[in-house]
Amino acid sequence: MELDRETLNKLVHTAVEARGKAYAPYSGFSVGAAALGGSETVYSGSNVENASYGLTVCAERVAVFNAVANGERTIKAVAVCADGSTSPCGACLQVMAEFAPKEESMVIILCTPEGKYTESYLSDFLPWPFSL
Ligand code: THU
Repeated sequence: MELDRETLNKLVHTAVEARGKAYAPYSGFSVGAAALGGSETVYSGSNVENASYGLTVCAERVAVFNAVANGERTIKAVAVCADGSTSPCGACLQVMAEFAPKEESMVIILCTPEGKYTESYLSDFLPWPFSL
């Protein structure tokens, strides 16, 4: 799937802004994300840490769950913003796969806090997702 420039810019901008809202007092590693729903609405997410470390939730999952909780059932793209443009973790990739559009690939955008980005597909990161 091809994203138009305006949508791409909106996703990158939303992910960069969301990074500023991360709650990461334990790791000090702030991450922001933006999910493009099937309706073309963009939803943001930030990582939310906890004193009980294992309860931490990644920015990508917060963005995807935000989209789904607002009625979306497919996610066309996810942008992730972190220092050094990090790759999504395996758990987040599996969650993204759940909502990938059936006929086309989900676009993954990795971006830096300065707004530099790369575009690829979920299948590049997770070629064999689990499904029932
Ligand atoms: N984190 C994310 O939010 N997304 C990723 O793709 C990788 C890791 C968060 C979890 C934790 O709050 C911090 O980054 C360090 O692992």
